[in-house]
Amino acid sequence: MTNIRVADHPVDPQFVGRWSPRAFADKAVSEAQVLALLEAARWAPSASNNQPWRFVWALRGEAGFAAIADSLVPFNKAWAEKAGALIVVASRTVVDKDGAKQANGFHAFDAGTAWGHLALQAHLDGLSAHAMGGFDHAKTAAAIHLPEDHVLHAVVAVGYRGDVANLPEMLQSREAPSPRVPLAEIAKRGSFTA
Ligand SMILES: Cc1cc2nc3c(=O)[nH]c(=O)nc-3n(C[C@H](O)[C@H](O)[C@H](O)COP(=O)(O)O)c2cc1C
Repeated sequence: MTNIRVADHPVDPQFVGRWSPRAFADKAVSEAQVLALLEAARWAPSASNNQPWRFVWALRGEAGFAAIADSLVPFNKAWAEKAGALIVVASRTVVDKDGAKQANGFHAFDAGTAWGHLALQAHLDGLSAHAMGGFDHAKTAAAIHLPEDHVLHAVVAVGYRGDVANLPEMLQSREAPSPRVPLAEIAKRGSFTA
């Protein structure tokens, strides 16, 4: 792992600057702020421009927020319920073609791209977005009334960064930007065996 969060090649600072904190400030996030994040997600590229991503969101204090928070695993709920907003990322697994449903093999890839847009827009807006795969799928699906032909990917906590001292002790030392493996390990020229 590279120890420091420094790019080996020139990139816009947003890519290295974005990270996933768990300590959120007790500061509200507005509907307009969430819509800006979803707008960024909406402009992601997708296979055949199918736009399979779907989002269900709620602000802290709303019943929908509590229902989504309750579906998180306890480890995540402990810190994520202090976020200003929760956004469930889902996707539609089929497309309508020639009057029938056809499987869309790219729905997950495209939903991931959209989440990336959302996270970077949050960073640009002075917010933090932290994705979580640790949730009870059945509970989240029930909480948001997930339609058929849809699958869940992640729940994203969004908010302003807060005081690390308010986190449970075991999470305090983990509240730091993480490193990355060297580029040479993940990108090969020509083939994996080159
Ligand atoms: C799909 C996905 C699932 C994740 N699940 C969790 C989770 O359940 N709990 C958690 O604390 N962090 C979770 N994370 C956050 C990752 O651990 C984090 O993004 C990763 O360590 C890289 O750190 P960075 O985002 O700060 O750069 C998840 C991230 C992604 C993209």
